[in-house]
Amino acid sequence: MSVQMVHNVGPVASSEATTFAGHQGMAGGVAALFEQANLTQDLEAVERLLLERTRSRAEVIRAASSHTIRSGGKRLRAALALLAARLGHYRLERVIHAAAAVELIQAASLVHDDLVDQAVRRRGRVTVHARWDNDVALMVGDYFFALAADEMARSPDPRIITFYAQAVRTVVEGELSPVTMLEPTKQALEQYYYKTGAKTAALFEAACKAGMAAGGGNDAQIAALGRYGFDLGMAFQIIDDMLDFTGDEATLGKPAGNDLRQGTITLPLILAMERAPSAPLRAIIEHGTPNDSQVQAVIQEVIAAGGVLAASAEAQRFIGEAIGHLKPFPPSPALSALVRLANFVVERDA
Ligand code: FPP
Ligand code: MG
Repeated sequence: MSVQMVHNVGPVASSEATTFAGHQGMAGGVAALFEQANLTQDLEAVERLLLERTRSRAEVIRAASSHTIRSGGKRLRAALALLAARLGHYRLERVIHAAAAVELIQAASLVHDDLVDQAVRRRGRVTVHARWDNDVALMVGDYFFALAADEMARSPDPRIITFYAQAVRTVVEGELSPVTMLEPTKQALEQYYYKTGAKTAALFEAACKAGMAAGGGNDAQIAALGRYGFDLGMAFQIIDDMLDFTGDEATLGKPAGNDLRQGTITLPLILAMERAPSAPLRAIIEHGTPNDSQVQAVIQEVIAAGGVLAASAEAQRFIGEAIGHLKPFPPSPALSALVRLANFVVERDA
């Protein structure tokens, strides 16, 4: 425990307070979607539960965990759990813990991810390790993870614990499976798809399966919803990687160009290289950590080569697959909302 950790505890500035709709950049689109799906009240109940759970007896944990929860986020994973449950027999009290658990796992993974990456901004706010320190970020991530376990244990169906436990194992494996090469692009693509599936899509899949189980779904329904969640998660991460090329900090709530600056190889770059093999691009990437002007040069070259457009088409393809997995379910408001949510994921700009 550091001295800084003890001194730096303070109330979260009211100007920083946000709701589950998150920071300015994406609040409108997804909030309207949730409203239309009649989901807002239930998501607010999830939000209250999350905030309640941050009441640790340790002041620093309380401050840093509430800082994280109040920074919002789209709460897409919680929404997925709720909507999945609505495909079955919906009772909020049966699914709320599964919805809270997935957001707590997500919060844990982001606090740790920012610590590993030494990223200073997330969702328009300063990150935990930057505002407090590395020790606090490590502990807060662990704390969130324990809170998530608690929520899982309160869920009605024991399979929910298994879904999330499997997902967390996979997320950790994915986080430690970098794309190690740009060429041959076939191998780079294999590495990218594996990593993306593990790091991001696995948790979307688990949220959908947990929600469907909480709604009393049978094995086939749980499996179908899981496939929907996985493909949706693939599209979500591809768009996230694309926005690193095309987005701006004010909208994203974190700096653009981060992946390139850290030497992280993502889909737009690989697809640009596949379309127009480029020696300068290769040289910059092989160098490892490009400077700001090199980052800008890579961004322009990737866009010009059609890498961003091709990645966007790939995200659309995953969304088509995701929606296809919903075929076994009869029409309902929840089903329409899941389709709209899928389309939102590829249309978002943050
Ligand atoms: C964000 O992706 C990071 C993740 C989706 C996973 C991070 C996982 C860990 C740190 C492993 C620990 C997991 C748990 C559950 C405690 P990104 O880096 O592509 O996106 P970003 O640009 O928003 O950071
Ligand atoms: Mg990161």
